[in-house]
Amino acid sequence: MARLVIQGQRPLRGEIRVAGAKNAALPMLAASLLTGEEVVFDNVPDIEDIHTIVELLGHVGADVQYTPAEHQVRVNARNINNPVIPPELAAKARASFLLVGPLTGRLGRAMAPHPGGCAIGSRPVNVDVKGLADMGATVVHEGEYYAVRAPGRLRGNKVYLDYPSHTGTENLLMAAVLAKGKTVIKHAAAEPEVSALADLLSAMGANIKGAGTSIIEVEGVDELHGVRYTVVPDRIESGTFAIAAAISGGELSMAPAVMAHMDPLTHKLREVGVEVEDEGEAYRVRGGWQLTPTELQTLPYPGFPTDLQACFSTLLTQADGMSIVHERVYDNRLQYSGELAKMGARMEVEGQSARIFGPAHLKGARVRALDLRAGAALVLAALAADGETVIEDVHHLERGYEDIVSKLTAVGASIRREQ
Ligand code: EPU
Repeated sequence: MARLVIQGQRPLRGEIRVAGAKNAALPMLAASLLTGEEVVFDNVPDIEDIHTIVELLGHVGADVQYTPAEHQVRVNARNINNPVIPPELAAKARASFLLVGPLTGRLGRAMAPHPGGCAIGSRPVNVDVKGLADMGATVVHEGEYYAVRAPGRLRGNKVYLDYPSHTGTENLLMAAVLAKGKTVIKHAAAEPEVSALADLLSAMGANIKGAGTSIIEVEGVDELHGVRYTVVPDRIESGTFAIAAAISGGELSMAPAVMAHMDPLTHKLREVGVEVEDEGEAYRVRGGWQLTPTELQTLPYPGFPTDLQACFSTLLTQADGMSIVHERVYDNRLQYSGELAKMGARMEVEGQSARIFGPAHLKGARVRALDLRAGAALVLAALAADGETVIEDVHHLERGYEDIVSKLTAVGASIRREQ
């Protein structure tokens, strides 16, 4: 098991190259199963979740060449023949379920166990299952698998989502592009990663309107073709480093960035007293002033991202007064408060809300990364803390952040990884 050792209280300064977005690359790699031609992806992050999905693509019969050092994946799914997602890979990542839509579209069949991923609350797949059934598939439980069958082709239909699920929308979008006729997905997720997936699918020959809004319309086509595509920058990685600049009292510039994707964070950072500059392709953030407390709620995009909730709450431990945070997306994503408390943070959690009392004097301690973003929050707390922090179970962090040790070291952090 690896751990991080961090000496705090050093302002970070410099520029950070932001990797391709994990949550965009994962569905895009799944989408490569929708064509028998080669799809080449550039700017793919070198992180654990990508290794898992690459392994899965190989498992279902695709020919995959992954060169992490070049951030490139080439997929040729001409000969896919195995519609079964193995339980050991399904357990590793929520994204494993993203193969269900494309496999059903291409092979008329998919067998997938309930997916794993970070333990941050209940993570059902009923949106995906119900939508596929609306499009003519039968979905039954067979042992530990969801068995999806759609002999012939899926049929376009009106599909209303009970919740604008991010992977649910992506799965149904991928199922719809090869369906017969028109599909209208209502109450769809509007996350930038969904728009990026629609953009990739359109470049492969799909006919999609409205991605990035709550109503997506898809006119099915007979087949898709190969393409070369660059993954969008990771807004959550950018946001994590933005908060690192603020909490360390330094100044960082993150590039490349799509400024519009950063709006929910920019708005909140400015409100609490952090300077943010839009430099076109770069997102520049400067801290160092006394922060004011605020009230924040996470919501589906364009609301404040749940994936930055733990990081922003950590910043709020340094605000002068009481802040309130409502986690409205997941029902158990405030567990990290116990770890932050070991470092001196004062957070009172009740249900899905927390009251944070600041400014707290954070001190180095031995803590555990409980999940990916909780781990990132602890890194931020350690950067602000007096003394040495040891973060155990750092593999959670490595599922989603590429080379975080080198990136932080290059801008002045004292951080090392120990096995
Ligand atoms: N939900 C339902 N029904 C469903 C599916 C989801 O009610 O059928 C509820 C869940 O219970 C949960 C909420 O919807 O409370 C959010 O789930 P959603 O399906 O939208 O999220 P996801 O697709 O599982 C993706 C990202 C998450 C990110 C969320 C929200 C991937 C692989 N994961 O998860 O990323 O938090 O969207 O934007 O794209 C992370 O990167 O740390 C991470 C957890």
